[in-house]
Amino acid sequence: MRENNMIVILNFKCYKEAMGEKALTLARICEQISQEYSIKMAVAPQHPDIYRISSSVDIPVYAQHIDPIEVGSHTGYVLPECVAEAGACGTLLNHSEKRMKLADIERAIERARDVGLKTVVCTNNIPTTKAAATLLPDFVAVEPPELIGTGVAVSKANPEVVRGSVKAVKEIAPNVNVLCGAGITTGEDFKRAVELGAEGILLASGIVKAKDQREALESLVKWL
Ligand code: G3P
Repeated sequence: MRENNMIVILNFKCYKEAMGEKALTLARICEQISQEYSIKMAVAPQHPDIYRISSSVDIPVYAQHIDPIEVGSHTGYVLPECVAEAGACGTLLNHSEKRMKLADIERAIERARDVGLKTVVCTNNIPTTKAAATLLPDFVAVEPPELIGTGVAVSKANPEVVRGSVKAVKEIAPNVNVLCGAGITTGEDFKRAVELGAEGILLASGIVKAKDQREALESLVKWL
């Protein structure tokens, strides 16, 4: 069976097609495809679904966000310890739909490290990717917001932001892995991203909102 070091992180966002029991169904599809195609997959469900999924499937579950807080009186915030206890092994940070201050990103990375969560810091261009890399997350994921949800892949519409982000990160922090996302829906989009140096992709609507989620995911990865 082929092994590769690519990772596909599927962000469930707040889509109704990936909530509750449907989140578990989709996570199980991701687990099957991960095994069938020997590709690392992770899912990022809404917080209330983390335990439901982590206790039922054997692929990494990421939170969509954590707050840079300690245990205590922080009503309504997302505590890193609790996300870890729920079975998550990582978290997105600074997604374009949940932007954070730079100081809070730094503290959130520290708190994630305290509790054993990997971190994917989302960025929107090369300068913000450079800034994120200096904080030494596990991954940066460059995603031009204007392409998110459009089905127009960043790897085709703006290849330079991918190529330039990879170059910048590897000069600053070679061990930080570079993902890209926004508009990625097909295997061709994914293949192009890899050709530009990306070590994986972060995507959402192309799979979550597909008529046949399994078929969409299979066609995304079968070229590998
Ligand atoms: O977190 C990934 C997401 O922002 C990309 O969205 O729908 O363009 O794959 P989409």
